[in-house]
Amino acid sequence: MGVNLLLGLQWGDEGKGKIVDVLTKDYDIIARFQGGPNAGHTLEFDGIKHVLHTIPSGIFHDKALNLVGNGVVIDPVIFKKELDNLEKFNLDYHSKLLISRKAHLILPTHRILDAVSEAAKGKAKIGSTLKGIGPTYMDKTGRNGIRVGDLELSDWKERYRALANKHEAMIDFYDAKIEYDLEELEKEFFIAIDTLKSLTFIDSEAYLHEAQRSGKTILAEGAQGSLLDIDFGTYPFVTSSNTTAAGACTGLGIAPNQIKEVFGIFKAYTTRVGSGPFPTELFDEDGETMGRVGNEFGATTGRSRRCGWLDLVALKYAVHVNGVTQLMMMKGDVLSGFNTLKICTAYKYQGKEITHFPYSIEPENVEPVYTEMKGWKEDLTKMSDESEFPDTLNAYIKFLEKELETPITIVSVGPDRKQTIHR
Ligand code: GDP
Ligand code: IMO
Ligand code: MG
Repeated sequence: MGVNLLLGLQWGDEGKGKIVDVLTKDYDIIARFQGGPNAGHTLEFDGIKHVLHTIPSGIFHDKALNLVGNGVVIDPVIFKKELDNLEKFNLDYHSKLLISRKAHLILPTHRILDAVSEAAKGKAKIGSTLKGIGPTYMDKTGRNGIRVGDLELSDWKERYRALANKHEAMIDFYDAKIEYDLEELEKEFFIAIDTLKSLTFIDSEAYLHEAQRSGKTILAEGAQGSLLDIDFGTYPFVTSSNTTAAGACTGLGIAPNQIKEVFGIFKAYTTRVGSGPFPTELFDEDGETMGRVGNEFGATTGRSRRCGWLDLVALKYAVHVNGVTQLMMMKGDVLSGFNTLKICTAYKYQGKEITHFPYSIEPENVEPVYTEMKGWKEDLTKMSDESEFPDTLNAYIKFLEKELETPITIVSVGPDRKQTIHR
């Protein structure tokens, strides 16, 4: 049977939530493998838009079980808010949600540390979502973290206190002063912990191993995107986890030889939130149009996303690093009306033309080289079959398939579940 992976190939927000929701009917288990509430995954159906941060995007289906894997970092406070939202839709999440005992917890002081660390960086700030992601993964790799399974131990509150005290000393170390009321934050945190404890904690790697043995179908859901990967992204302007395919192995305990299909999702153009280099970024009317038509505002922070042309150098790199077997192209509808579409096929790197993704893509090193293609005028959002596609869209798709040597099996033409065309 094996495990299929679904992950973002750009700087996040490619539409992972939407596609996981579309695919869930074919799976028994949807398992999130990394990241935390820095993610915002949007799903739309029956005229309602849902945004999930930690909960896997299969939660709205009756059949599938949803697992929050060991590679995920959980903020109990945000998690509780997500659960409260589900209750509004009469959704019985208790029967469909499983939490790995090995997932790490984001403490209130992790969030504050994130804020003071960013403030101290000044102009060099990462543009973090300020959800405490970096400090929590630092405590994980520093072997100081508190895990979900610890909540079942009698001394966990003492361990919490010791870590929070240490964090307070670290916060004081920074010059940047941030007002906070830890007592208030802790009150909210401990209430949320009680809610978290009402869910089922499991040894998820054993559970997934057994699921594989008994022929269950598993889809692993990634967060962020390959260019935000801690190793392969545009460091230091990245997140603190492995967002690429290997992250699914460590984030769930899945063996590499069990991975079958790797679904790579990309937008027909490019966006990025937060700081960091972005060679094809547009500062003109075209970029403004993409942002407006594509409604490019962060699902977690509401910040406007920077927009630009599709970057094939970066996309090819992501296809290789992840071993993508099928591509899914999102938001082609947003490009309707452009006379000409540009695709970056190479970089001018320190005077030479290159097609691989180099160590640094800072503007002083890299200038994009573009190929131009004819755009399409047609509104794609009402289309339900590939046969309705304008020739220029078909040419765009064919060009990308050839360059990336990978088939595009889904073309998404709008945010709704139904606006999904299988090829
Ligand atoms: P994720 O983080 O990868 O799950 O993506 P986000 O939810 O952060 O951002 C994707 C945004 O694009 C959401 O607002 C989606 O509703 C929307 N979206 C997804 N697919 C399409 C599409 O094909 N066309 C349009 N216009 N919007 C889409
Ligand atoms: P989804 O799963 C887009 C970006 C932040 C910042 C950098 C580091 O919705 O695609 P962090 O809070 O992780 O320390 O921020 O990463 N970032 C995202 N950008 N989509 C996301 O998730 C992101 N998660 C983090 O904007 O630049
Ligand atoms: Mg998002």
